[in-house]
Amino acid sequence: MSETRSAARRRVLRRRRQRRALVLLTLAAAVTVTLVMVLSRAFAPEDAVADPASDPAASPPAAEASLPAASTPEADQPDQTPPICETDAVVTALDSGSDRDVITAFGGAEPFRAAVAEGEAPCIDLHEAGRLWVVANKRHPLSPIDHWPTPQARPQGLRIVAGGWLLDQTAAALDELSADLGAAGAGKIGVSSGFRPYDNQVETYNRHVDNRGKAAADLRSARPGHSEHQTGLAVDVVACDSGCGDHDGFGGTPQSDWIVENAWRYGFIVRYEEGHTPTTGYSAEPWHLRFIGRELAAAYADGGFHTLEDFFGLEPAPDYG
Ligand code: DAL
Ligand code: ZN
Repeated sequence: MSETRSAARRRVLRRRRQRRALVLLTLAAAVTVTLVMVLSRAFAPEDAVADPASDPAASPPAAEASLPAASTPEADQPDQTPPICETDAVVTALDSGSDRDVITAFGGAEPFRAAVAEGEAPCIDLHEAGRLWVVANKRHPLSPIDHWPTPQARPQGLRIVAGGWLLDQTAAALDELSADLGAAGAGKIGVSSGFRPYDNQVETYNRHVDNRGKAAADLRSARPGHSEHQTGLAVDVVACDSGCGDHDGFGGTPQSDWIVENAWRYGFIVRYEEGHTPTTGYSAEPWHLRFIGRELAAAYADGGFHTLEDFFGLEPAPDYG
């Protein structure tokens, strides 16, 4: 009986040892798994965890998910460029510079033209009588209407048939044009009309009305306050040989043909071309040259323009509205 008890006792002790060993093994396994997980996190590369592209099932981080899809650093920046009329260069040039300085401040003649035509240059008054870019037509009188330009000069190297006073820069440019026209073998030109003050235009216009009637006069002569001749920037030329011809005989002469091709080089345009009466309101006047300066005239020629209205994006001016 005591042997039986002793054997039972040994069995109980053996089972206890087996249970203890099992518990210890389980604990050791748990510790090992935990340790492996901690170490693998600590040494894993960061983007392997954060990059959703490497794990299609992963969600983007919350902050990233809340950003608008099109948002970029550039798109978030407000436009820092001031309107062209508020730049120091333009403000200073308009205040105390020449008209050429203003055009330069815009970046040149074509940017100037484009800004005006696109309505981005509210500081440029196209009807300000003393400016190179002034547009006088049937819809827009000069501003001010009694403008009287100074200083004035007469060109020295060509015949003066009548009048001939011009803004000094117009006179100097016409002298150059005339000399080169002669050197090119295209003959000689003379001046038949230059500056005409407001009161003089009253007489000129009324004479046309008396001779032709009002409708025909309006196709040929501007009403007072609407003529480019009042700015000192317009000149009428005629072809000369031993004597000088008249306006109506000018178109088709070698002088006129040369001017059509080359006037822009000296800062002039032929203001009233054939085929553009619906825009200008006047019949063709190949003799009427308008000085707009070399820069603007080059842009006018480069752009293939035929009227100042189109050049500056103005509405046509077929009548006085
Ligand atoms: N002949 C032009 C249109 C003028 O009178 O100004
Ligand atoms: Zn004229």
